[in-house]
Amino acid sequence: MSKILLGITGSIAAYKACELAGMLKKKGHVVKCAMTPDASYFVTPLTMETITGEKVADSLFRLPETRGPVHVSLADEAELVLVAPATADIICKTAAGICDDVLTCAICATAAPVLFAPAMNNGMYSNPILQDKIAYLKSKGHRFVGPVEGALACGRVGMGHLAPLEEIVAEVERTIASLR
Ligand SMILES: Cc1cc2nc3c(=O)[nH]c(=O)nc-3n(C[C@H](O)[C@H](O)[C@H](O)COP(=O)(O)O)c2cc1C
Repeated sequence: MSKILLGITGSIAAYKACELAGMLKKKGHVVKCAMTPDASYFVTPLTMETITGEKVADSLFRLPETRGPVHVSLADEAELVLVAPATADIICKTAAGICDDVLTCAICATAAPVLFAPAMNNGMYSNPILQDKIAYLKSKGHRFVGPVEGALACGRVGMGHLAPLEEIVAEVERTIASLR
């Protein structure tokens, strides 16, 4: 049983975070969610709270129930941060050290491993700037699972489809096992 911070970002694949959270809970993990402001256009905090049974952090500036800023308590208690789906935006922001919402702040503050599961249009994914950022984050120890080839929301088929949820869960388990 591990404490997982599930970061959800503004991708069309965000609805899959609902099933992913349920799968991780079934494995016995405690799952807390941090959502970017844009993620809530795709999935609601209420949905994620209901699935996880835990309060969802969707703002830096709501009064936390814990002592101290919410992003710091989330960062400290997480044994793994899983960002699924991960937008091009969150990947580039993390690489640049940007901290402008609760998820980016928690990623920046945590000592836990961070695993990204990217999902985006194939043009965005193959963008050389994004590819540079992914390589840079890998060089700093961040992990990635997927994306894979598949149907994209824009109607094309290409590289950018979120990795299958089973693959993401397996990578979570591998990462947690590597910490012990
Ligand atoms: C309908 C729709 C679907 C989108 N899907 C994606 C996506 O799958 N991946 C991605 O990187 N950006 C996607 N975007 C763009 C992001 O929502 C946008 O970059 C946003 O600023 C991301 O913010 P966040 O990373 O803070 O959540 C989509 C936008 C819209 C309107």
